[in-house]
Amino acid sequence: MINVKELTKRYARTTAVDHISFEVGKGQIVGFLGPNGAGKTTTMRMLTCFLPPSSGSATVAGFDVLEQPLEAKRRIGYLPETPPLYPEMEASEYLRFVGKLKGLSGEELDKRIDYVCDRCAIADVRKKLLGKLSKGYRQRVGLAQAIIHNPDVLILDEPTAGLDPKQINETRDLIKNLAGSHTIILSTHILPEVEQTCEQVIIINKGKLVATDSVRNLQARARGAESVILEIAGRNGTVEPTLVQQRLVKVSGVSNVSLKNQQDGRAIFEVESQKGQLVRGDLARAVVESGWDLNELRPASMSLEEVFLQLTGNETLAEKAAAKGAQP
Ligand SMILES: Nc1ncnc2c1ncn2[C@@H]1O[C@H](COP(=O)(O)OP(=O)(O)O)[C@@H](O)[C@H]1O
Ligand SMILES: [Mg+2]
Repeated sequence: MINVKELTKRYARTTAVDHISFEVGKGQIVGFLGPNGAGKTTTMRMLTCFLPPSSGSATVAGFDVLEQPLEAKRRIGYLPETPPLYPEMEASEYLRFVGKLKGLSGEELDKRIDYVCDRCAIADVRKKLLGKLSKGYRQRVGLAQAIIHNPDVLILDEPTAGLDPKQINETRDLIKNLAGSHTIILSTHILPEVEQTCEQVIIINKGKLVATDSVRNLQARARGAESVILEIAGRNGTVEPTLVQQRLVKVSGVSNVSLKNQQDGRAIFEVESQKGQLVRGDLARAVVESGWDLNELRPASMSLEEVFLQLTGNETLAEKAAAKGAQP
C-alpha cells in the first residue's frame, strides 16, 4: 500500500531523510519511530505530496507521489503535526469545507460528516468554534478531517503529542479502531506509543533507517539475546576481575565486558556482543579453559527502551566495537 525506495530529502545544510526504503502492507498499522529531528515529519510530507523528494521515489496505493500527486492525495488522509484548523470556523463547517476540497458534495458529504463526527467522538462539539476547543478535541477534529474522504491510507504525524494521558488513551483507541478500514502510518518519538498501538515499527535516526521489524520481534530482542550475564568463581576462592575481563574481551564477537558485582570469590560480569553474534559457547569455553568455574550464564534482560537507545543512541554498541577495533 505504501512503497518507499531510497527516499531522500536534502536541505542546504542537512540531509533530513537519507535513502530510506520500506513497505507498508494493506491494513497494517505502522509506527514510525525516531527521536526529534530524525526526519519523520519530512518523510511524511514527502509521502503526502507536500514536499518533493531530492531523490528516490514513493508510491501510495499504487500512485507515484511525484508523478501522480492528485491520484495519490485522493487516497491519503493526513494529520500534520499541527492540524490546519481555522479558529473562527465551527467544527462541522470546517469538516464541510475540507470535504468539499476533497471532492465530496451533497448527500454524500452530509453522510460523511455524520460518520466522521460519530467515529471520532466529536458529535457534541459540531457547533463549537474550533478556536474554543480543547487540544484533545482539536486533535479529534484533525483526525476527522483526515478520514472525511475515506482514504485508503492515513498518515498521522505525532497524533498524541501535547495531549494529556486520558486524551492519549482515547486517541490511541480511536486510531486502533480506524486500523481495520485503513492502512495507517503514525509517527512518534515515544516508544510505548508504538508498543501499544502498532504491529510494525520503522525506526529512523538522523535521516537513516535503523530498523524495521514487528513490535513482537523488537520485544523479543528487548528480552536480550545480545548481552549475557556471567557469574564466575575462582577455583581457589578468589577471582581477579581484570584478568577475566582481559580474557573475555578477546572472545570473538564480544564488544564489551563490565564487572557488575564481586563477592566471596565470585564475580558477575555483563558481556555485550556485536549484533547477531552468538558468543555464549565461546565464552563458556574461555572461562573453563582459563581455569575458572562458570556458575551461571544467562541472557541479560534489556528493556525495549534500551533497544531503542541502542538503535538510535549517539554511540551504539556496534559503533563502540568499531571504535575499539580501530584503536592500535
Ligand atoms: N525546511 C527545512 N529547512 C532546513 N532543514 C529542515 C527543514 N525542515 C526540517 N529540517 C531539518 O531536517 C531534520 C529532520 O526534521 P524533521 O523531519 O522535522 O524531524 P522529526 O519530525 O523526526 O522531528 C532536522 O534536522 C531539521 O532541522
Ligand atoms: Mg516531526
